[in-house]
Amino acid sequence: MSSHANRPRRRTAPDIRARKGGEPIVALTSYHAHTARLADPHVDMLLVGDSLGMVLYGHGSTIPVTLEQMITHGQVVASATRQALVVIDMPFGAYEESPQQAFRNAARVLKETGAAAVKLEGGERMAETIRFLTERGVPVMAHIGLTPQLVNTLGGFKVQGRDPAQWAAIEADAAAVAEAGAFCVVLEAIAEPLAKRITAQCPIPTIGIGASAACDGQILVMEDMLGLNPRPPRFVKEYASLASEIERAIAAYAGDVRARAFPAAEHTYETKKRD
Ligand code: KIV
Repeated sequence: MSSHANRPRRRTAPDIRARKGGEPIVALTSYHAHTARLADPHVDMLLVGDSLGMVLYGHGSTIPVTLEQMITHGQVVASATRQALVVIDMPFGAYEESPQQAFRNAARVLKETGAAAVKLEGGERMAETIRFLTERGVPVMAHIGLTPQLVNTLGGFKVQGRDPAQWAAIEADAAAVAEAGAFCVVLEAIAEPLAKRITAQCPIPTIGIGASAACDGQILVMEDMLGLNPRPPRFVKEYASLASEIERAIAAYAGDVRARAFPAAEHTYETKKRD
């Protein structure tokens, strides 16, 4: 019998696409091995998001993130997991120039990480690129609404679709990425009535982040939902308070070291016993 017989099958982009209107799709971001391994049995997708630029590297936006960083963290998450579909974010500057540039870099991402899909930001303006990639074997998760890589042209991170005058453009974005072949679309920071309309109209699953329970699935930044972000966005629910837990543990360690209570006998190597 094959050694793969008992391994759970890894989810694919078509599996996610087929979940439209069905059981909610569960997704989280992930950038490193320990947390990827813990999340893998519980989620459908792990996104190596370019949010790592802010969360791991401390930048003020995702703009400085490089393709090499995405590939490094993508390799880590793909090799630490067995079940979840691993999706890698295309960073700013790696895909906007032309469909050919996007394909060259996306092909590198898939070859070098072992992940099976990429994500890129943009609706109608990226439709030609999404079609070019999907027709050539690169599954694409689209991302519309608040697109953080446009922070400098938008002038900040702003909720989209609060004014119904904005709705037609965002609905057209959703329709364009679905028509171009994206297997699902992230709706970020979109007012609930609009997220509901898009989810009802769009033939591919919508994955919400700050876009209400109307979406076909949800994604959060893992560090946000674990309580590590000192200023989490309003749409985050914290399922743990790791910041205070980590601080408590570090203070306890520091106290033990200063009191010579750590290391104790069980943490210490002895010499070999002679007969
Ligand atoms: O970079 C990221 O983590 C993302 C999610 C917030 C969807 O794009």
